[in-house]
This record gives sequence, C-alpha cells and structure tokens, in this order.
Amino acid sequence: MENKRSEWSSNFGFIIASAGSAIGLGNIWKFPYMAGNNGGGAFVFVYLTLVMVVGFALILSEVALGRYTKQSALGAYSKINKHFKFIGYLNVLAAFFVLCTYNVLGSFIIGYVMEYLTSATFITTFTPEVFYDELVSSQSVILWQISFIFLTSIIVINGISGGIEKVSKICMPLLIVMFITIMVKCLSLPGSEKGVEFFLKPDFSKINLNLILDALGQVFFSLSLGMGVNITFGSYLNKESNIFKNSFLIPFIDTIVALIAGLTILPAVFAFGLNPEKGSSLIFVTLPTVFENMAFGNIFGFLFFLLIFFATITSSVAIFEVCTSSFMDKFNISRKLSVFIIALISLVVTLPAILSFSTLGHIEIFSYTIFEFFEILPTKYLLPLGGLLLCLVVGHTWGIRNVSIEVFGKRNLCFEIILGSLIKLIIPIGLIIVFVKQFV
Ligand code: PHE
Repeated sequence: MENKRSEWSSNFGFIIASAGSAIGLGNIWKFPYMAGNNGGGAFVFVYLTLVMVVGFALILSEVALGRYTKQSALGAYSKINKHFKFIGYLNVLAAFFVLCTYNVLGSFIIGYVMEYLTSATFITTFTPEVFYDELVSSQSVILWQISFIFLTSIIVINGISGGIEKVSKICMPLLIVMFITIMVKCLSLPGSEKGVEFFLKPDFSKINLNLILDALGQVFFSLSLGMGVNITFGSYLNKESNIFKNSFLIPFIDTIVALIAGLTILPAVFAFGLNPEKGSSLIFVTLPTVFENMAFGNIFGFLFFLLIFFATITSSVAIFEVCTSSFMDKFNISRKLSVFIIALISLVVTLPAILSFSTLGHIEIFSYTIFEFFEILPTKYLLPLGGLLLCLVVGHTWGIRNVSIEVFGKRNLCFEIILGSLIKLIIPIGLIIVFVKQFV
C-alpha cells in the first residue's frame, strides 16, 4: 500500500482540523433547533452527559484505530480483519451522504452571505421567508453548489498540512471570535434572559426516550462519529501525539461552540418573541428575522452567515477527505485524481437533492424528500450502525488491551476496565435500543 503517509505538521494541527471537522452545521444549525424542539435545558443536560460518556470513548477508539492501522476508514477495518471491509464501505457511504447534504446547505449559506454582502436592503425587499423560498428554488443556488464543491476540492487537493490544517487554522479562530461577538450582542438584547433560562435550566420531566435518542444522534453527528473521519485523521497522527488528551479536547471544544450557538440563537429568538420550535428553518428564516429587527442587523447577519460558512467548509473538507483518502488507499491513485472523481460524483448526486427544494419536490423516498432522505439516512441509521460495528471490532477483535497499548504505549488496567465496559456493554446496548426504536 502506501509507504509515505502524510502527517499533521503538529499535534495542534490535528486538534484544530478535528475541531474544524466537528464544529459544523451540527453545532450551529442542528443543536439549537433540537434543543428548541426538545424542551431546551433537558436536552442540553442529556447531550452533555452523552458527550462525556459515549463521545469520548468512541472518538478515542476511532483515533487509536486510525493511528494504529495508518489507514483511512476503508483500509483500517480490513487491516484488523479482512471480513470487516464492509464496515469501511459503510463509513464511506455515510460520509458521502453527509457530504451531499453539506453541499446543499453550503450553497444556501453562500447565497445568504452574498445577499448580505451585496444588498443593503436584504431584509426590506424580502421577508426572510420569501428570500429563503426564492433562494432554494433559484438557478443561482446551483452556481453556489458548484462553487462550494470547487472550493472544498481545492482545499483537499492541497493535502493534509497544506490544505485542511491551514484552512482550519485560519477559519476556526475567526469563527470563535465572531461567534462570541454575536453572542454578547444577542445576550444584551432585552428579554434574552428567557432564552438563557430555556436553554440552560433543565426541566427533568421532559426527558424521555425520544429526547435521549435525538441527543445520541446529535452526539454522533456533531463529533463526526461512525463515518471514518476520526479514523482517517488519526491515521495522519504521529506516534508521539497524546490520543487520550486529544480525545478530551476535541469534544470539549465542539461542545463549547454548540453551547455558544445555543446561547446566541435562543436568547435572540426569545428576545423578539419568536418561536424556538421552528426546526431546521431556525437559522435560515427565524434568525434573519431577528437580525432584521436589531440595530446593525445587516452587519451581524453578514458576520453570522460568514461564520457558518467557515464552520461548513471546514467540516465539508473533512468529509471530503474521508472519501478522497479511501479512494487513494483503495485504488492507489493520486490525491488530485481522487479529488476530481469525488467532486464529480458528489456534484451529480447533490443535484437532485438541491432540486428537491423545487422541481423535484414531489419525489419521495420512504415519504421523505430527496434532501431529507440524504440527511436522515446517515444521522439516524448509518452513523449509529457505524458506531455499533466500531464497538464490536474494537471491543471483540482488535481488543481493549491493544487500544491501551496504542494510547499509552503500555497496558493500563483502570483505563481498560472503564473503556471496556463502555465499548463492550453500555454503548452497544444503547445503540441497539436506538435501532429497535427506529424500526418499531
Ligand atoms: N460534525 C459536523 C457537524 O457538527 C458534521 C460532520 C460530520 C463533519 C462528519 C464532518 C464529518 O456539523
């Protein structure tokens, strides 16, 4: 296979790129609306608990598996046992669907950024609803889609330290600074404290199985679990890096950003008396309505969509990398060719998903539109399945003791007992309940 595998320029490079992958639409678009739909604080409480237990154990296992095998998702599983090759394929398939949904949402976000940038009258000419409806069904959205895929491809072509790592090092700090600025502004709005209370004060009576399942799905999506991202990124990690520490830091940073997003969006929505239970249109329709009514709203709107754009592109690059490196490992082709092939396929497959907002809106797959199907298939099925299979492989074939040796360079009994009970028992049982629940 490969002799010279690329590496991160430093451990910090790995952390920032992994944070770039983890911090995405999951944090900014999904987390606040899922919290909004699931009673606020109760959801946040369950989510935080699951990140600490499930998130940490699975990230650690994926990164260790990647570094040990020095292979992307496809090669990593088959290196453990050649019968496990299909798990790698499932991972890449999940990543591909997520990539297509990112292409769609990325193109909408470029549409918003351009609108805020070029027209001072955004909000006065259209209501946000009308703008959204017109954008998603316009021809220009296809142009934005091509631009988004092109930009992602250019970054991935530049490789690990020269592309992904560099872009994350620029985008992530900017994202955090812009986000904190907007959060402070939103928290200073009169009436915002109701949103803070809604978001942070758990009403434990709201916790039920559905809420737990939603939170678990969100942990998988937000930490990019079950689709080979952390395996691939781990495979570029050198032996000196501390996997244990990294596996704390990445979920920690990701969760901070999700909390900032919740503390920005929900207080603003409450301050203007809008409904937080607006589902996926929370950032595309509800939030622009907030900016419309705010002093300097156009500037804040522009900054907000720019930061979402940064979050989206760094995640999309990570998912693209999973597909690219799997193709490179599998077919022994150059990075350039692999990027070209993935860009082309994803362009073609994304097109019907974009058109499902307009001309292809009548087509249904299991009663979902094409876009909804692309979004739901990985989040609800493929990622938890990837997580379950990861637990089986790590717990029963590769073995917890080998994880310990990869992570610490030696056996560590206490670590093995804790990780073993999570990976062999607690997490698989949770994931099996998820599956049973999806089908009954
Ligand atoms: N974790 C990203 C988010 O929260 C989504 C993602 C999934 C990114 C898989 C990369 C790979 O939005």
